[in-house]
Amino acid sequence: MLALCVWWIHCLIAFSRGLATTEPTTPSSPAEKVNDYSKIESKFALRTPEVPDDDTCYLVPGQAETISHCNFNHTSKTFVVIHGWTVTGMYESWVPKLVDALYKREPDSNVVVVDWLSRAHQHYLVSAEYTQLVGKDVATFIDWLEEELNYPVDKMHLLGYSLGAHAAGIAGSLTKKKINRITGLDPAGPTFEYADATTRLSPDDANFVDVLHTYTRGSPDRSIGIQQPVGHVDIYPNGGNFQPGCNLGDALLLIAERGLGDVDQLVKCSHERSILLFIDSLLYDEKQSMTYRCSSKEAFEKGLCLSCRKNRCNTLGYKVNKVRSKRSTKMYLKTRAQMPYKVFHYQVKVHLFDRQKWTMKNQPFLVSLYGTKDESENIAITLPEVSTNMTYSFLICTEVDVGELLMLKVSWEKDSYFSWSDWWTTYAFEIRKIRVKSGERQKKIVLCPKDGTHSHLKRGKGPVLFVKCFDHTQSKSHDGLQNNQMVETKLEN
Ligand SMILES: *[C@@H]1O[C@H](CO)[C@@H](O)[C@H](O)[C@H]1NC(C)=O
Ligand SMILES: *[C@@H]1O[C@H](CO)[C@@H](O)[C@H](O)[C@H]1NC(C)=O
Repeated sequence: MLALCVWWIHCLIAFSRGLATTEPTTPSSPAEKVNDYSKIESKFALRTPEVPDDDTCYLVPGQAETISHCNFNHTSKTFVVIHGWTVTGMYESWVPKLVDALYKREPDSNVVVVDWLSRAHQHYLVSAEYTQLVGKDVATFIDWLEEELNYPVDKMHLLGYSLGAHAAGIAGSLTKKKINRITGLDPAGPTFEYADATTRLSPDDANFVDVLHTYTRGSPDRSIGIQQPVGHVDIYPNGGNFQPGCNLGDALLLIAERGLGDVDQLVKCSHERSILLFIDSLLYDEKQSMTYRCSSKEAFEKGLCLSCRKNRCNTLGYKVNKVRSKRSTKMYLKTRAQMPYKVFHYQVKVHLFDRQKWTMKNQPFLVSLYGTKDESENIAITLPEVSTNMTYSFLICTEVDVGELLMLKVSWEKDSYFSWSDWWTTYAFEIRKIRVKSGERQKKIVLCPKDGTHSHLKRGKGPVLFVKCFDHTQSKSHDGLQNNQMVETKLEN
């Protein structure tokens, strides 16, 4: 089991022991000579669509001829990709994947990969310190392009992963003119969580800073990815802690199938998901994931945050709507475990009537949605508690676009625990209406029992069907949902 943890345990153990005895040289005086390119250690490889996986041509600050030699396109936008800490001293496999996806989406662009591998191949704490120098190198590089070519920095988009995200932030804070955009891909947590904004990625570093947080497990000082929001828009897919398809069970299954070669990959699975989500946004233009502003992960899980009013929702990744509010905006979404990651989000709200008063914990339900385009059956949901005459709101997701919702089927499963009371009691409650709100379609619909006005959902018995209510005046009737409506509005604000 320990072998699994090579990558991050390695870094965290070292971190907690405080082994940082070898201090790297810190940047010298900020008012350094502008055109001194001699101190630059990072290399800037302009990759090509033909050879996305190798550094074939370097843009060298101070050497203008390298610009034409590498076929840098003056009129196109430029992506600058900055890698993170490396165990092997080599580029990780995601680098060519991201380069390739960027060129697929923007064939005329310049994709520059920053090589700071030698500094990234150190003790984690040393490499973390080096991000300041790397950022400085990148800033010098950008200023050089700007001075040499009059290259507009509003065509500059930096993409930094892990430690690279902070290097991008430092770069953005040092360029003479503010760059257009920085995308932070799961910015590193250790030593940065409580660091001053000037030494890490922050919203001041570019006109627009968007951040994906995908591996923020554990206490803040132990988390691989930074937990606090550090951009204008901070997205926490699946809550941000860790990602579907990345848990230990999946990992062991994969090891059984493919052998130990992929262990490193599995340990970093959630961390690297940030990159894959961005690649997904580049490649699947017609399947853009939506994100929703929410005060907390818990409120999102209840389906309370699917509103798009006043920029409350946005698109994940490349086509993000560049909304800048004064404070960082925390956004949430669910995803699939594989690419394309997009899912469709629904809030389901239901009031459970019964004459008798009772409460049950952790009750499993199956919900099926049928729409004009498709259907999604047996979506499992567990309600932490069900209680008489209470309204419940929860989030369900479908992988397919069902279109306009026409019908909903729900059944109440028996949990696995045997209970004597099951012998003589059939738990059931009455449902008069089910309200469903679609995040992607921004539509609300009220569903009524297919057979008659009342319907009884019995535990461990067959499903109950709900269809679009005919009489819409009824939908505002006395069904106990009004109070909940108010709670929702409150939570959204
Ligand atoms: C440079 O990019 C522009 C689009 O930004 C494109 O029209 C042009 O063909 C490119 N030039 C070269 C030499 O590839
Ligand atoms: C639940 O509400 C219904 C209708 O408002 C009422 O008839 C019933 O007595 C209530 N049940 C309990 C246990 O209070």
